[in-house]
Amino acid sequence: MTDRYQISSPSNIAFIKYWGKKDGNKQWPANGSLSMTLNHSKTITTAQVNNIDQDELVLKGSSSNQEKGIKHIQRMRQILRLESMPFLKITTENTFPTACGIASSASGLSALTLACLACWTRSKNLHELEKFYSREQMAHLSRMGSGSAGRSLWGGYVSWEPGPSSEEQILKQEFDKAHWDLCDVIVIISSEEKAQSSSKGHEAAWESPLFSARLAQLPYRLQQARLALIERDLNALGDIIEQDALDMHSVMMTGVPKANYFKPKTSEFISWLRTQRHQGNLKAWFTIDAGPNVHVICERRDLDRTIKSIKESFPGVELITDDVGSGPTLNLIKD
Ligand code: DP6
Repeated sequence: MTDRYQISSPSNIAFIKYWGKKDGNKQWPANGSLSMTLNHSKTITTAQVNNIDQDELVLKGSSSNQEKGIKHIQRMRQILRLESMPFLKITTENTFPTACGIASSASGLSALTLACLACWTRSKNLHELEKFYSREQMAHLSRMGSGSAGRSLWGGYVSWEPGPSSEEQILKQEFDKAHWDLCDVIVIISSEEKAQSSSKGHEAAWESPLFSARLAQLPYRLQQARLALIERDLNALGDIIEQDALDMHSVMMTGVPKANYFKPKTSEFISWLRTQRHQGNLKAWFTIDAGPNVHVICERRDLDRTIKSIKESFPGVELITDDVGSGPTLNLIKD
């Protein structure tokens, strides 16, 4: 009988974005970030010991990130001094379109991290796995694969601070899911995979004349976002997240090389949303990751009205309705 482990790990949407690294090898971010863990947008990964002498990684629905994944498995063996651990066969699939601004590397790399650790420690569930590695240690391992993946290890609202040195970075849950029932309506403007990876974009940011101004504002902005989260004040949080997304995209558009993830429909949608809000029709705010798709953040009580209004104004547009989630899960499957 083969033991197979199934991990479900969520994507997360950053309210304050991680963009730029002080040290790429150590995955030391240029600024602190803050995110909401999603509920339905996730990666489902199954893993088992391989009977041939190499790691195998099958990414269903997309081949991008395969090299990143294999490198991550090898990196984990080295960091954890687990070189003698068996090779693994891993299959992974997303419940949402990949590499177009729904943080597929966050869910993918956190799922991969947990899958390897579950196989190597033969842990049947997360509780057992946490006897070997703390949630924080697993978050740090995940961010070595992809920075944003470190924030997917917890449900609710999660922060990642650079700390005073690359060794002292802090990843932690700020609030659990029960703190605030926020929703995220993801408006799929395009599900084409993006032309420039986030990893390249993090380097390009340093060449943007706007980047130093962004970094100077971020500690204050992060503090204000935390306050708004504590007080569950979406008027305040909404303005901050829109500001932060536009600020990050301005850096992207002025970096070297420059990248423009917006499609004409992205701009059209955000102007429409702002108009609706200013006219008092909607209580919803946007954020946008490295892709053209728009995340519309609103409270549960405003969800139906928000969806209805989007559908009326953008007939035929694909929507993914998500909300705040409770973090990853792990199960043992016996064949
Ligand atoms: C725009 O985590 O994908 O989603 O660490 O190079 O893998 P790497 O980058 P990645 O960057 C994500 C950037 C973002 C904002 C965010 O999630 O904070």
